[in-house]
Amino acid sequence: MPRDSAVTWLVVAVVVTVLAMIAFVVFVPTPTPEAAPASANVATPSNVAWTEETIAEVNGGDTVRGMVLARRCEKCHGEEGFSDSGEIPNLASMDKLAFWKQLEDYRAGKRKSALMQPQAAVLTRRDEADLTAYYALLPAIPDPQDTRVKAVAAIDPQAAATAARLVALGDGTRGIPPCQGCHGPVGNVRGAPSLATQNADYILAQLEAFADGSRANDINLPMRTIAAQLNQEDRKALAQYYGSGLGALPGGASPVWKK
Ligand code: HEC
Ligand code: HEC
Repeated sequence: MPRDSAVTWLVVAVVVTVLAMIAFVVFVPTPTPEAAPASANVATPSNVAWTEETIAEVNGGDTVRGMVLARRCEKCHGEEGFSDSGEIPNLASMDKLAFWKQLEDYRAGKRKSALMQPQAAVLTRRDEADLTAYYALLPAIPDPQDTRVKAVAAIDPQAAATAARLVALGDGTRGIPPCQGCHGPVGNVRGAPSLATQNADYILAQLEAFADGSRANDINLPMRTIAAQLNQEDRKALAQYYGSGLGALPGGASPVWKK
């Protein structure tokens, strides 16, 4: 009898253990990825927060020191902030907050570029503010005598009309706000670069990158949302529109300095 009772207890113990294991698997929730602790900062679009201190820091750059530092930028961005290649952005007269934030984002790896990340990696925050001050001072409207702005093939009238509508009115049916509400032509909101003197190829590449998420440094994702709502033709038309200078004046009137 003692032997039988030992076997019985063993059987009971095994059954209880198995039931406990089943209960554990069935009832104890497995942690979902959402419940996992957020890993430090990886998914944030930018390390920049527009506090009063940061804005003052950005606006306090030294133009002369910036001019000296800018020597190392000239071979790509041009001596007067107008680049020779349509794929490299023009920097002359760029919004200060937008300019500084891009350098910070490249430095932190929040915006990816094989060419720009190494350039930004060696800058301090002060260098960035000084460069910001210098480039903001360079005039955006080139002298009609020179050839700093590359000629763009005449834009197809239908594409121009599509772009002009998106720039001035947006498209409420797709939740697209007017580009000019943030990018000008006359002014631009702080942190949004003016596009009026930007290169078409560069604009198109940025719109594609926002649309597919490979550029994701826009705080509160205005550009990822908008670019993904635009179709391929819209993106091309907008790049051509700005790149051909039509975005420089309200209503798309043709500026005199572009033929
Ligand atoms: C080797 C060429 C090269 C050099 C040198 C270079 N850049 Fe750039 N820069 C680029 C390219 C290419 C891009 C666009 C990269 C991308 O697609 O994100 C860019 C983008 C930028 C942008 C973002 C502009 C925008 O409209 O968002 C800023 C600001 C900038 N560069 C500033 C500088 C400064 C300041 C220096 C000098 C310290 C510098 N760059 C040196 C090639 C260069
Ligand atoms: C709600 C404001 C807002 C609207 C509307 C908006 N943008 Fe932007 N856009 C921004 C901001 C802010 C940035 C800078 C993002 C960052 O910090 O990198 C930006 C960046 C861009 C850039 C990259 C410029 C550069 O120099 O790197 C392009 C191109 C652009 N926008 C095109 C457009 C077009 C085209 C439209 C209209 C279809 C549009 N945007 C509408 C706020 C806006």
